[in-house]
Amino acid sequence: MASLAPPNSSPWSCAKSSPIIPPLQRFLADAEEDLAGLRDRELLRTLTTIEEVRGVKVRVAGQWLVSWCTNDYLGLSQHPQVIQAACEAAQRWGVGARASRLLAGSTTLHAQLEARLAAFFGAESALVFPSGYLANLGTLGALLGPEDVVLVDRLAHASLIDAARASRARLRVFPHNDVAELARLLARLPRRAIAGRRGRRIVVSEGLFSMDGDRAPLAQLADVVNAHEALLYLDDAHGAFVLGSSGRGSPQQAGVPHAAMIYMGTLGKALGAQGGFVVGAQSLIRFLQNRARHFLYATALATPLVAAALEALRLVEEDPAPRARLAQRVRQLQATLASLTDLPRFAPSHIAPIVVGSARRARALSASLWERGVWAPAIRPPTVPAGTSRLRLSVTALHTEEQIGELADALRDQLNPASQ
Ligand SMILES: Cc1ncc(COP(=O)(O)O)c(C=O)c1O
Repeated sequence: MASLAPPNSSPWSCAKSSPIIPPLQRFLADAEEDLAGLRDRELLRTLTTIEEVRGVKVRVAGQWLVSWCTNDYLGLSQHPQVIQAACEAAQRWGVGARASRLLAGSTTLHAQLEARLAAFFGAESALVFPSGYLANLGTLGALLGPEDVVLVDRLAHASLIDAARASRARLRVFPHNDVAELARLLARLPRRAIAGRRGRRIVVSEGLFSMDGDRAPLAQLADVVNAHEALLYLDDAHGAFVLGSSGRGSPQQAGVPHAAMIYMGTLGKALGAQGGFVVGAQSLIRFLQNRARHFLYATALATPLVAAALEALRLVEEDPAPRARLAQRVRQLQATLASLTDLPRFAPSHIAPIVVGSARRARALSASLWERGVWAPAIRPPTVPAGTSRLRLSVTALHTEEQIGELADALRDQLNPASQ
């Protein structure tokens, strides 16, 4: 009988000793060179493996640390009811969604979540994507084409820049939060018409900037965009469910209706689950269901995560306590940081950057805090512009006043060694 085992001489054998084919060898050599370059510039990134999580404490290589770098702003990823909802959904529906939404991946849970998100933000309709990143790529990709112009804030998140670039629209970057310059840019743009369609102009910004913790001047932005017959696309990944009197996000805080923009958020930050969403008019959502490639061609968000997001949204609506606790911690953290000398000014939000300049300095500061049980990774280019490497602290409703005090002590000792 013929053997089913592959012959030993096959170049595709999976045996450990199998030779690496030359094109792959060349790529691996290039990759190593690239990594060495990153290492030399203090820009190499490596994964930190968490062994256990308890509230804001994590165990890494046997050491317990207080994490100051999660986006679980309301602590909902560990809420017993959110966990229970995810478990029950897994029991009832299975773990994966099994197909894209338009094939066999759309369940009553997805429909419920979309209806609840739409109602929460006062919109006609909503669409859930498998992640916030895909929501940005899919939505901007569907809205924009070569005849259009997209104007993006200089500090916008990588997913927005990637979405703008991939859309093939003409890309203009405006200085961070500079509404006057944006107005000048818009006024100078000729409006092209291709195949009978007038070119669109879409202004892209964030409600609460992810690495700086400051807010977009939404009211002014909305006015300028409106005056120039453009559209505003707002990524409120870090503001949704947290900011505003009832968690309706940056628009609520700024007193601007969600209807003045195309509003996008994620389910993976304040709701503690995963996924992204866009809310808006029914025609927009139906258009995206047909045109957003990252919605069309991706497996639907897994049902346990949909159920977790639904439960977390219910908690946000019914229990203002975590938001109130977070607001208190924000005040405490910001007051503490402001009292430390030689620090740049902080925008008062749950995201508090400590900008130190070089990547080397940020890494050294992060490493010395680690020794004190404080986990605050160095954020370096290309995530932030060169020369603005930083620690990006994020405070959550689960942090305690005592932990803020410990953070302040550690920071004071590292930033002002003379005070020890
Ligand atoms: C501003 C902003 N937009 C979008 C995303 C992507 O969202 P998600 O993590 O859900 O893919 C992030 C994530 O870091 C973000 O900070």
